[in-house]
Amino acid sequence: MTKKAVLLTGGAGFIGSHTAVALVNAGYEPVILDNFSNSQPAVLNRLEQIVGRALVCERGDVGDSAWVQSVISKHGICAVVHFAGCKAVGESMADPLKYYVNNVAGTISLLKAMQAAGCRLLVFSSSATVYGDPATSPITEDFPIQSANTYGATKVMCEQMLAEMSSSDNRWRAGVLRYFNPVGAHPSGLIGDDPSGVPNNLMPYVTQVAAGQRPMLDIFGDDYETEDGTGVRDYIHVQDLALGHVAAVRTLLEGASSFTVNLGAGHGHSVLEVVRAFEAASGQQIPYQIAPRRPGDVAAYYADPSAAARLLGWHAKHDLNDMCTDAWRWQQYASQNSSKT
Ligand code: NAD
Ligand code: UFG
Repeated sequence: MTKKAVLLTGGAGFIGSHTAVALVNAGYEPVILDNFSNSQPAVLNRLEQIVGRALVCERGDVGDSAWVQSVISKHGICAVVHFAGCKAVGESMADPLKYYVNNVAGTISLLKAMQAAGCRLLVFSSSATVYGDPATSPITEDFPIQSANTYGATKVMCEQMLAEMSSSDNRWRAGVLRYFNPVGAHPSGLIGDDPSGVPNNLMPYVTQVAAGQRPMLDIFGDDYETEDGTGVRDYIHVQDLALGHVAAVRTLLEGASSFTVNLGAGHGHSVLEVVRAFEAASGQQIPYQIAPRRPGDVAAYYADPSAAARLLGWHAKHDLNDMCTDAWRWQQYASQNSSKT
């Protein structure tokens, strides 16, 4: 039987590459579409090494609607997972137009291509950032949506577009996945988070300190109303996240109507807990200093992931030790292969 082809826009990136492997393992044929604005073409070789066979990759921009339509038709795509976009909160405030063009106009361009090609099943990468500064945790999907920054605003707008399209035409069905804090890497150590420049996020910063690439970690605040005073987040292993996408694609293909779910572990860890877990997993010391709070940070939040369990039969299985062990294996590979290619 021919394998079902699933288009992954941004499929060469951090979450897309892990999802490509998970889709292969589940019997699908991923088709990677990427312009490599935030990834390296050589990730393809490493993906092929992991799955043991050639993979299809189309190089180009999701904003080129006519070309995306031709890709969908050429490969007989039955569903699309839309990862492609920009994701740095700080940059989105400094250069909002870049975010509206790539994230919002890019999604519109993709939807037009899908409409023209007659493929109307979409899994969309959203983010817990759409909850802004939530009043309490755990967070359920019916919490108010508030965009605290331009990046968040682009996700809110795309979610709204998808909701309106599904209610206007029931051939459109969308699975919106609100990720909490994705970390970790594939256990092979061949693919992982590959930020360019100084990492904004905690885990890649910690791994670079452990590798001696940065002298120490700044912990942004130790006076929050949390158990040890440092920020608490719901970290989710990227391998679990990848399986969440497989479950979302399968659920849509089985005929489910549109859904929106949190993908998180359902509990939080503080910055100090992450540092200690990483030291234990890697055997490396992580020197740190307490720095002022980072503007815009909230004290603590974590998901209620029960809707994903109910609708997709999905829950996170990996713990913080797995996340640190796998992130460290990837960092060591990346350090030895200086351009990470
Ligand atoms: P990433 O930057 O590693 O991957 C995105 C990929 O999309 C890159 O390979 C990039 O080259 C490609 N891309 C960007 N613009 C494109 C365009 N116009 N055309 C074609 N390709 C394009 O990011 P990621 O961490 O894998 O995130 C994937 C998605 O998940 C993003 O939409 C992001 O907003 C969302 N998300 C990420 C996180 C996180 O912490 N990583 C959290 C919540 C949501
Ligand atoms: N932190 C530090 N030092 C650092 C980096 C982070 O102490 O060098 C702290 C932060 O203050 C926060 C925690 O580590 O308490 C996690 O910070 P991250 O930057 O790793 O993650 P955020 O929760 O701030 O945000 C991330 C993405 C957002 C996304 C959100 C939910 O950057 O885009 O997860 O998915 F919306």
